[in-house]
Amino acid sequence: MSCQRLSIFLRGFRYFMAKTYKIATIPGDGTGPEVVLEAKKVLAAAASKGGFKLEFTEFDFGSARYLKTGETLPDSAIGEFKKFDSMFLGAIGHPDVKPGILEAGILLKIRFALDQYINLRPVKLYPNVETPLKDKGPEHIDFVVIRENTGGIYTGHGGATRVGTTEEIATQLMVYDRRTVDRCLKYAFELKKKRNAQNKKYADKPITLIHKRNVLTHCGDLWYRAFEEMGAKQYSDLKRDYNHVDAANMWFVKNPEWFDVAVTENLFGDIITDLGAMIQGGLGVASGGNINPEGVSMFEPMGGSAPKYAGQNVINPMAAIGAAMMMLDSLGESKSAAAIETAMIATMKKMKSQAAGKMGMSTTEVGDLVANSL
Ligand code: IPM
Ligand code: MN
Repeated sequence: MSCQRLSIFLRGFRYFMAKTYKIATIPGDGTGPEVVLEAKKVLAAAASKGGFKLEFTEFDFGSARYLKTGETLPDSAIGEFKKFDSMFLGAIGHPDVKPGILEAGILLKIRFALDQYINLRPVKLYPNVETPLKDKGPEHIDFVVIRENTGGIYTGHGGATRVGTTEEIATQLMVYDRRTVDRCLKYAFELKKKRNAQNKKYADKPITLIHKRNVLTHCGDLWYRAFEEMGAKQYSDLKRDYNHVDAANMWFVKNPEWFDVAVTENLFGDIITDLGAMIQGGLGVASGGNINPEGVSMFEPMGGSAPKYAGQNVINPMAAIGAAMMMLDSLGESKSAAAIETAMIATMKKMKSQAAGKMGMSTTEVGDLVANSL
């Protein structure tokens, strides 16, 4: 065989043998489809460089389908999703749909049904990205929040009676069991161990449990004891810290450099991760993962559907690209994930701002720049 034919053969063989990941995408509402498109562009470039294949299957769940058919997400879709290696979500939400319907019917349903019990939220300020925190830079803001993602108030335990009367009663309970707490803590401790091994600057910092055990004496106590027990028994070499959630809010703003891995329950996590998104430069750059470490995970940009920016090619796709990076990392393609991060940093340097409409370039151009610098 000639040298040229051999090389063509080898390239074909490599392509044939390449690992293929099946990805389910839900572009969803508003600007969701625009940012998913850019994320896919970057993923395709990363795959061709990294020697693996990605096969995308699109699902049309979201407001348009709901407004037309009354259906949010059929149970059969859950079975379908289980056949994929990972999932990617754009955004869900529409001004014509009553709040709660699409959230519960699509996003929360997927989290619960696929048991995506970790919500992973990196809070990382990249160079050339503006933070509202005075005198803080990338060296101060680089941590992750692990939010428990299937328990607590989100379980929907409780109810309402005498509705509409002056004696109306409503309850919504914070529900936790030891197994749910332990599996979340386990993930957090393991991540802390990994980060400590990666970089000395992380190793100097503690893993922080965030709760409200001065008032939530049952749930807070359960989390605290579980944290202390697991820490002492299995991770005694890791420094541990505890913050009440209200205090953690203050420290996120005043001393974000104190944090490396912070772990917390569902609702507190929901609240503090939006604060986290702001200090890292806003919703244009904040990404998250709904992770089932033993199953199918789903990655998403944190910003919502932003209807007022939809269809104008002005939304920032960086958060979606960051979510794509997280997805590759979770699939084990960490080299390609790191390459995406480098390309993101290079692109952010060229952007005027990370805010929608103020980037100095279009949505498409941001995606092109990241893909090309791969
Ligand atoms: C989030 C969102 C969701 C949540 C909503 C849309 C149900 O705010 O992912 O943080 O509360 O978890
Ligand atoms: Mn939220």
